[in-house]
Amino acid sequence: MGHCLDILFSLCIASLLTHSACTLHSRQRQRLHGILGFAWKNCGAPDDPAVMKTLSISPDPIMVPGNLVASAAGTTSVALTSPLALNVTLEKEVAGFWVKIPCLEEIGSCHYTDACSLLDQVIPPGQDCPEPLHTYGIPCHCPFKAGDYTLPESEFQLPDIELPFWLTNGNYRAMGVLGSNGKELGCLKVSLSIHSS
Ligand SMILES: *[C@@H]1O[C@H](CO)[C@@H](O)[C@H](O)[C@H]1NC(C)=O
Repeated sequence: MGHCLDILFSLCIASLLTHSACTLHSRQRQRLHGILGFAWKNCGAPDDPAVMKTLSISPDPIMVPGNLVASAAGTTSVALTSPLALNVTLEKEVAGFWVKIPCLEEIGSCHYTDACSLLDQVIPPGQDCPEPLHTYGIPCHCPFKAGDYTLPESEFQLPDIELPFWLTNGNYRAMGVLGSNGKELGCLKVSLSIHSS
């Protein structure tokens, strides 16, 4: 089925079919796959040590700027230590098709050789973890000890920042694969919709 749709996509582009034909196809695809709105799932092997147990984000679609309410719980049966490889694949729906967003300035579909050093860049070590992590005693630097991590329902403000050109209204899906020493630790898929005003 996926192949058929990919081939149709190529035909759509190659023969420059009318826009309405592509839009119709997009609607069919959405109905087939139920891709609209927020959804998530673990996508690793059943014995992967790191798994997400719950994840919720609202409102749906996410409004930018606006407030976001999120809660999450995850567990890891092994310590997550540096270097922690992270492969992210980010896709945006364009006219009914998932288009991979390239890695630009470390954002997009990127291969990070060490997510730990990435965290250190974003949050300088030695200072408090940003809220709400600090309040709930959730660490924000490697190593992450084996155990359960829970973020109770928390509100985040999404600022009215200048977004990258590709981050506008629409449906997105992302996959993240975490690994260490060539072994997969965990895999998570998330899809969501963003409405920016
Ligand atoms: C990330 O992708 C590279 C290149 O495809 C691969 O060699 C590596 O094993 C991947 N790492 C993880 C954690 O999936």
